[in-house]
Amino acid sequence: MESIAFLGAGNMAAAMVEGLIANGAYAPGRILCLGGGGSTAQALSVRTGIRLASSLDDLLADAGTLVVAFKPQHLAKADPRLAELTAGRLVLSVLAGKTLASLEAAFPRARNRVRSMPNTPGQIGAGLTGWCAASPLSEADRALLGQLFGALGGSLELPESQIDGFTAICGSGPAYVFEFAAALRDGAVGLGFDPATARHLAVETLLGASRLLARRDVDPEVLRNQVTSPNGVTAAGLARMASRDFRGMVRETVEAARSRARELSA
Ligand SMILES: NC(=O)c1ccc[n+]([C@@H]2O[C@H](COP(=O)([O-])OP(=O)(O)OC[C@H]3O[C@@H](n4cnc5c(N)ncnc54)[C@H](OP(=O)(O)O)[C@@H]3O)[C@@H](O)[C@H]2O)c1
Repeated sequence: MESIAFLGAGNMAAAMVEGLIANGAYAPGRILCLGGGGSTAQALSVRTGIRLASSLDDLLADAGTLVVAFKPQHLAKADPRLAELTAGRLVLSVLAGKTLASLEAAFPRARNRVRSMPNTPGQIGAGLTGWCAASPLSEADRALLGQLFGALGGSLELPESQIDGFTAICGSGPAYVFEFAAALRDGAVGLGFDPATARHLAVETLLGASRLLARRDVDPEVLRNQVTSPNGVTAAGLARMASRDFRGMVRETVEAARSRARELSA
């Protein structure tokens, strides 16, 4: 079986490598990595047992797939030899905002190019990755991608035109949830709870509500209504959210994020 090469060995590459090994999809000996001038690649190799490549040629000598996992701005400065070295290989990019057209320019001879947008819950296998491929995928490449994305959690194939929207909802979404968690925690402190207890209350409430929502096959409004008796405690809280147009604010939030994603990927 061919090896998988990671160019860039930071947080995202580490999450994928650790997931691949934990799932049993790939033995560490079949995964290689290479970084830039720093120490992340060596650290990842020492921590997981994957091989640290000595050069780009070494990285790609036996690899059928290259996962490009450096920062998006590194693509323009990447070694031009990558165009030849990736000939016949599958290239999977996790670079935010880098379009299939820009991947084609950098890796013109790859057998296929895939643009993906993972999110941070992938670090614990609870992510959702949106992706699109430049050309129709062979069964073998589709299965390979399933393993790679499976290392981070779930995945969803989308037309490229929807990747910016996916980024605004699922890429940035965890930050909105963390902001809401922080607001709930601050609200608890305002009601007199000590900071540690306030954090506990906010986290457990979000976790429990999210699990319940994921397990029940109903709209969130159904579960919301189950908590809300007419003129009761929750109704008082929700009325205040509605009076400040909470939904309108969230709509504007995701629209602003998508506009920025479009600007950055233009
Ligand atoms: N983190 C996320 O949740 C997330 C979500 C979606 C998408 N992404 C995408 O994932 C990518 C990586 O993000 P990250 O958070 O993992 O970044 P990171 O932790 O900063 O890691 C960046 C990696 O790139 C390496 N690198 C730097 N210059 C390089 C070069 N010229 N050639 C090869 N490798 C080079 C670095 O190696 P040295 O240590 O040697 O410098 C390091 O291993 C980004 O493109 C980002 O858009 C991340």
